[in-house]
Amino acid sequence: MKSIKLGIIGLGTIGSATVKNLLKSKELIKESYGLDVVISSICDKRKDLAKKFKDIVFTAEPFDIVRSSEIDVVVELIGGINPAFEVIKESLKSGKDVVTANKALLAEKGSVLFDLAARRNSGRLRFEASVCGGVPVIRSIASHLSLAGIRSIVGILNGTTNYILSNMADFGGGFEENLKDAQIIGYAEKDPSLDIKGIDSLHKLSILSYLCFGRSLPLSKVFVEGIENISDLDIKYARELGYVIKLLAVARLLPNNKIEARVHPAFIPNNHSLAQVKGSFNAVFINTERAGEFLFSGLGAGGDATSTAVIADIVSLAKEYPHTYIASRNKNADLVNPARFSFRYYLRLSAVDKPGVLAKISRILADYKVSIASVTQKQRDSARFVPIIMLTHKARETSLLKAKAKIDSLSVINPPTQVIRIEEI
Ligand SMILES: NC(=O)c1ccc[n+]([C@@H]2O[C@H](COP(=O)([O-])OP(=O)(O)OC[C@H]3O[C@@H](n4cnc5c(N)ncnc54)[C@H](OP(=O)(O)O)[C@@H]3O)[C@@H](O)[C@H]2O)c1
Repeated sequence: MKSIKLGIIGLGTIGSATVKNLLKSKELIKESYGLDVVISSICDKRKDLAKKFKDIVFTAEPFDIVRSSEIDVVVELIGGINPAFEVIKESLKSGKDVVTANKALLAEKGSVLFDLAARRNSGRLRFEASVCGGVPVIRSIASHLSLAGIRSIVGILNGTTNYILSNMADFGGGFEENLKDAQIIGYAEKDPSLDIKGIDSLHKLSILSYLCFGRSLPLSKVFVEGIENISDLDIKYARELGYVIKLLAVARLLPNNKIEARVHPAFIPNNHSLAQVKGSFNAVFINTERAGEFLFSGLGAGGDATSTAVIADIVSLAKEYPHTYIASRNKNADLVNPARFSFRYYLRLSAVDKPGVLAKISRILADYKVSIASVTQKQRDSARFVPIIMLTHKARETSLLKAKAKIDSLSVINPPTQVIRIEEI
């Protein structure tokens, strides 16, 4: 029976679940794949963990594993950029295969690592757990859907923000209250900024963009907006208009070979399959040229779910698909400049309730060639101001934002006017 020897680096949430579930499924992997997976070494900073593992070499130094001639596969689960980058680089260079869940690292340094892994004598790189936890979306894209000509991906890639937005919609309460709730039950970190500002979604979008379009994203150039300014009023008005609000990560290959990439909250119709993705679930909606549309959805985080993807990667290295996933098209494809985006928009204005105000707002929008599709005046939200909800027809983002700035400077407006894009999917 074929045997592979693992060195697991990082024994936190994902590392300890990986060890637990590998030991649990050892016989199943033998029976199903004729493969004996042996955990040879484990590394973690916390040396006191050593006593838990009898027949496994324990070290606090990751490079002991990288340099060990005993190890076939290095499983990097420490997270962060350093020393994870050097750990993976050195492992691949020495011909060891690598499994990682490290989305931040792959988003920052993926192109170096993907190129390295594609070299002839290098080890191979697997990273299923880096996007959507336990959902097998990377394997499906790399070994199947990329053959169907992927046009676009629209993802709900962050469980924390999806939990907050869907709880605001289903159970009420504002953003801050639902964020606190997410922190109490462990769905949000103490410092939640990577999640709520959209950065974690951007990292995962970059990995998907590499696989789908052959281009990791230049992170600083991608348009990213978080969910921290979404209010319970927006959630309520969205529902009344037949929409839900989701934090979307979108990448689209345009006919001119440019990639439109963006992360921001958006209205989506409440009868779209992505609207049904609730709580901490993740999903990716993929549109292809030749095979239609696909929706992948499931648990995007957590030890057991994510370790399933790590273990599947380990088995795949031994049993199937011998190559590193390579996406060679469009390596230098440009990004679409966000100034060229156009959408339909939802606007929520807070205006003084007196004759002539609506006419002023409409005139400014018309001056900037933003045409109004509908206007609703809501009940007064304070002694002076009344909410006005507008949906626009498709308009250029730059024009819309200039119009918004001008509207917000009117003395009859209580700024800032809320602007949310309406996604056409
Ligand atoms: N958690 C999830 O649901 C999830 C889902 C998908 C992907 N991921 C990814 O999986 C990776 C691991 O995440 P996690 O949640 O398991 O993180 P974690 O709980 O913080 O675990 C990381 C472990 O590695 C140890 N460590 C860090 N630097 C080390 C070093 N230089 N040498 C030895 N040990 C070191 C840490 O020790 P200390 O705590 O003492 O620093 C900790 O025990 C990350 O890349 C993450 O993005 C996580």
